[in-house]
Amino acid sequence: MKTYLIEIKLNKELKEVEVTAQETLLEILRNKLGAIDVKDGCGKGDCGACAVLLDGKAVNSCLTLALQANGKEVTTLRGIGNEKNPHPIQNSFVKHGAVQCGFCTAGMVVIAKAFLNQNQNPSRQEIREAISGNLCRCTGYEKIIDAIQNMALESKS
Ligand code: FES
Ligand code: FES
Repeated sequence: MKTYLIEIKLNKELKEVEVTAQETLLEILRNKLGAIDVKDGCGKGDCGACAVLLDGKAVNSCLTLALQANGKEVTTLRGIGNEKNPHPIQNSFVKHGAVQCGFCTAGMVVIAKAFLNQNQNPSRQEIREAISGNLCRCTGYEKIIDAIQNMALESKS
């Protein structure tokens, strides 16, 4: 099968990787670049667990072809924050009990980051709309909304 050499900046590190025309960004991130912090949920755009930032814009990586990321910057959960150096959004999720099984958390944090970059003073309804493509089976969403709203409030204080 024909392959193409693409270059992406993954969490600020330049990577070159051979991809086929059919491979998704999710597949190459997890299987070829070791980015298992990107979650493989439904694989068809329904759950939002696989969200990453592509040049700062949130996308579902299962619906994005690897070729579409060529020459672009990809930020995953780990590029936002990690165990040693968590992002305030991650701290807010922990503080507000917004992490239960964790299935949705990577995608939720990525979406929250992209959203808060655009809207520093969101209403609960705006947050609801922002996370409407992300499924959470555990929290009933209210704790996630609390976490995102409080993060916005705290960053203003
Ligand atoms: S794995 Fe991509 S939206 Fe569910
Ligand atoms: S914390 Fe379990 S799916 Fe959201």
